[in-house]
Amino acid sequence: MVSSLAAAGRRGFEAGTSVIVITMSDSSAPPAGAWLLDPEVTYLNHGSFGSCPGPVLDVQGDFRRRFEREPVRFVDSVLEGLLDETRVSVGAFVGADPQDLVFVANATTGVNTVLQSLPLGKADELIVTDHAYNACRNAVEHYADRAGARVVVVRVPFPVSDPEEIVHAVLAMVTPRTRLALLDHVTSPTAIIFPIERLVRELESRGVETLVDGAHAPGHGSPRSQGDRRHVLHRELSQVGLCAQSCGDAPLAAP
Ligand SMILES: Cc1ncc(COP(=O)(O)O)c(C=O)c1O
Repeated sequence: MVSSLAAAGRRGFEAGTSVIVITMSDSSAPPAGAWLLDPEVTYLNHGSFGSCPGPVLDVQGDFRRRFEREPVRFVDSVLEGLLDETRVSVGAFVGADPQDLVFVANATTGVNTVLQSLPLGKADELIVTDHAYNACRNAVEHYADRAGARVVVVRVPFPVSDPEEIVHAVLAMVTPRTRLALLDHVTSPTAIIFPIERLVRELESRGVETLVDGAHAPGHGSPRSQGDRRHVLHRELSQVGLCAQSCGDAPLAAP
């Protein structure tokens, strides 16, 4: 979190002007001791360089060992089945059809994959916000630059007092040329939960596709009910098929 705020400061926010509240509200979250973190350090950055819980590392290690014992057999006959099983588990967790899920290495790769597959022309415009994760914003700028398209940066008010302010700020920048908006569900530098379902719906009705950067969102306890959360995530994932690095992050309080 500290480095996220520092990054925000570099990008124009006044770091330190507001307090971001982080709470552990999800009783199913692993206990603090489950991480390998140095107990002498109060580690708050579970975003850009988050730490993985020990039990997850153990399971990863088991898979690595299974692969190393017989790599060809693992890739040829075991891996596909494991991925299918995992699609079913993840689908149940986020409320998505397993068929709609594709695994990518991380959120940045997912964003790049979607942008790379988007045919863009000189007349097109892409929307990002000034709260976007820098690597993903860079990707938007890169692909727009390559096609001669224009990037429109939405200034989201901060601190924000009403989710409608975010909706208005984004929609105000939509033009007939807007092809796609890259929007975070939970912003990295400011921990704002965007009203993503409403944004997607409004953009869709204007003919604009939304690429939701869902890093953090599935793992956070949300003020919404589990049913609502699943509904939102399903929409999110079916729009884009993207979520990463979320499970195990500390839940955020709503802004
Ligand atoms: C909102 C957001 N998007 C994308 C990323 C990048 O995630 P990854 O390292 O999985 O590519 C982060 C990392 O903190 C993030 O906070």
